Amino acid sequence: PTTRNYNFVLSEVTAAPDGVVRQLFVINGKFPGPLIRANRGDRIVVNVTNRLSEPTSMHWHGMFQNGTNWMDGTAGITQCPIPPGKSFVYKFTIENQYGTFWYHSHYSTQYMDGLFGPLIVHAPEEARFRELYDHDQVVLIQDYYHNVSSTLIPGYLAPGNENNEPVPDNGLLQGTNYFNCSSLEADSGRACHDNSRAVIPVQRNKRHRLRLINVGGFAEFQFSVDNHTLSVIEADATMVEPLEVHRLEISVAQRYSVILTADREVGNYWIRVDMNTLCFTARNPLLNPAIKGILTYANSSTDPEEGTSTDWADARNVMCQDLNSTLLVPAEPESPPPADVVYSLKFAFMIGAYTLARAYVNESVSWTVPDVPTLNTAVSGLRSGNQTFNATGVAPSYGFDNQYIISIPENQIVDLLITNMDEGAHPFHLHGHEFWVLATSPEQYFPWHTYGSLNTTNPLRRDTITVDAYGWALIRFRSDNPGMWAFHCHITWHMEAGLLVQFQTRNDLMKDWTLPDDVLGLCEA
Ligand code: C2O
Repeated sequence: PTTRNYNFVLSEVTAAPDGVVRQLFVINGKFPGPLIRANRGDRIVVNVTNRLSEPTSMHWHGMFQNGTNWMDGTAGITQCPIPPGKSFVYKFTIENQYGTFWYHSHYSTQYMDGLFGPLIVHAPEEARFRELYDHDQVVLIQDYYHNVSSTLIPGYLAPGNENNEPVPDNGLLQGTNYFNCSSLEADSGRACHDNSRAVIPVQRNKRHRLRLINVGGFAEFQFSVDNHTLSVIEADATMVEPLEVHRLEISVAQRYSVILTADREVGNYWIRVDMNTLCFTARNPLLNPAIKGILTYANSSTDPEEGTSTDWADARNVMCQDLNSTLLVPAEPESPPPADVVYSLKFAFMIGAYTLARAYVNESVSWTVPDVPTLNTAVSGLRSGNQTFNATGVAPSYGFDNQYIISIPENQIVDLLITNMDEGAHPFHLHGHEFWVLATSPEQYFPWHTYGSLNTTNPLRRDTITVDAYGWALIRFRSDNPGMWAFHCHITWHMEAGLLVQFQTRNDLMKDWTLPDDVLGLCEA
């Protein structure tokens, strides 16, 4: 197997991705961070050096980390954060997975300040899909703030704020966008200069695979390209049977690959990345949620800003497809999800209700970052034989009244019913696993309800699922991967507000673990 070595030096710079000058966190001076491209089976070694003035960590979103849970990069869960001035080397092997992933800081809301990048994994099985396209390229979509995220947290979590999230100032495509400088408050004292939109070049009659990644922290987007249809072939590293859509919804941390066939007149076409502002438009009237980029055909003679495209508005309304439902069908079917469910767990969460600033799971627990990572605590507890998490998952014996830890001792089948008591949709991500999506619903779940029909033949497998406002989702996973794994809303504000629980899986293996010295050493700094 090939070892791929990277040096990531994290630093803080003054930059203006959309023309408005701000403090930005960068990797090797770059924003967004460098692309990691590897083959399945490769060993990835990343030396992360923290030259920021605050702690950090790096998480490899979607990587199973089987046998290397302590390389998962979750501050307070699998490691102490990397202190300023220190380095830590992440080492892991990519096993049994390929597709579109990303990496990002997993310390507070920090990745929104620039610490993220794409991670693409290839495998021989890709060959049959490779015939469907000629070019392969990453497309990063995100919401964007003009302030360093940590400066926005105190106001966000202030008592009485009812968890009103800071509203984005803009959105970026490929780390850039236009911003109307005249809309900045005159007294903001900020420098602002004209900046251009992202341009994605295509060649006429070629088929372009666009790997869309929502690397933002809050908003969901609708992605479309004027006059072109998109053929979806991947969702969160699961290859799917091609599905034609005119636009698709992508939540924070989700990935979709679409094939765009450049079969129109040579010219320029708008790429539309519309921010779903349903729940927060009123709070930032200056925000223009219609983020645009330009798809430009080679040899196009028109001015890119004078796109030749039309909106296809009618088609957009008619053809919009809800990809979170069962429309996407894995192209490489596995055997059906096992039906011998041992754990059937229910999480009801609420956030900002009754003027509470924080988030609560099952009415009781709101996560905060402990000084000692829960993995370290669990491993020493298992070794000394006194590890006890009670049936509800809360671990009072450790004095953790803010850690909701569900211990699944062995390789078992787990069902999770996630019910959303909030007026917004929430993208939930499970670390270290992919799960089957058995059902989703925008309707409120009541205990006397039945699920209706579950998709148990060939359901989509993914790692981040949107739970609709006041709706629910039922997912299933196999707890075959030892470790302490976060399961949380990927909206950075919500994680900061405590919307996170943990699964401690396979105690039978974990009890023999000794955590590596360099990992433990991070806690001594
Ligand atoms: Cu993409 Cu818990 O992370």
